[in-house]
Amino acid sequence: MLDYDKIASSVDSLRIFDYINVLEVTTSTNDYLKELDSGNYKAIVFAKEQTKARGRRGRTWISDFGGCLMFSFKLTPKLSLSNISFLTQLCAVSLHKTMLELIGDNVDLKIKWPNDLMLNSKKICGVLCESEIATDVEPSVIIGIGLNVFGEIDDERISDIASTIESELSIKIDVAKFMYSFIEDFFNRLTTLENTGKINQADIDYINQNFYNKGKFITGTAFTGKLLEVDSEGALLLEKEDGSVHRHMFGDVFA
Ligand code: BTN
Repeated sequence: MLDYDKIASSVDSLRIFDYINVLEVTTSTNDYLKELDSGNYKAIVFAKEQTKARGRRGRTWISDFGGCLMFSFKLTPKLSLSNISFLTQLCAVSLHKTMLELIGDNVDLKIKWPNDLMLNSKKICGVLCESEIATDVEPSVIIGIGLNVFGEIDDERISDIASTIESELSIKIDVAKFMYSFIEDFFNRLTTLENTGKINQADIDYINQNFYNKGKFITGTAFTGKLLEVDSEGALLLEKEDGSVHRHMFGDVFA
């Protein structure tokens, strides 16, 4: 079982969020935060169960095997609209670095563009970044994360492509420690991004060094091509069969 009291108090000790809640059940933690009138303050919510958990591109997020850490946080970053998409890259770097610190770097952990984590070529973490842009208020962003921590995934819809940290490595990670380090690291990177207005090239290099399926020819539902790298704007560069290079700014390319 995930010890949510311990996880929430670990996050609380960082004094970053003005609102922290652990829900027994909700439709989706992203939707819960959308409904929450949190003004400009920072909020984070965990759920023990989600009945309508969503993934990117309208997909369902399957998490009923019981070992998935599910949470969302909402922030109002001091970023221009064009820089908000960099949060996706920051999240990928933070999640990957924090995880390696916890499980050691002698593992096959990769970032699948834009920000999934793949362990032994199986997805263990998915991120759903959603922005709320209205004319009368500052744009806010909700980042929802599902991390498959323990248990076995035997749902045949995903058992070939997804797994848990425990299944792959036979270890149980300290989730409270993970959350503390991830949130601390992410908000440090966010402060730098807010101050400079640009993502660090070192972060882009980091993504490229840990890029899942780099150099491989991928056949997706929307696009087909060879995955080259992420450019300095965080866009995916993809080489098509005719040799031309295409640039994708958003993550919803591959099934
Ligand atoms: C993806 O891989 O497509 C993204 C999955 C994101 C799942 C998380 S679980 C917590 C939050 N609530 C949701 O409904 N989705 C995200």
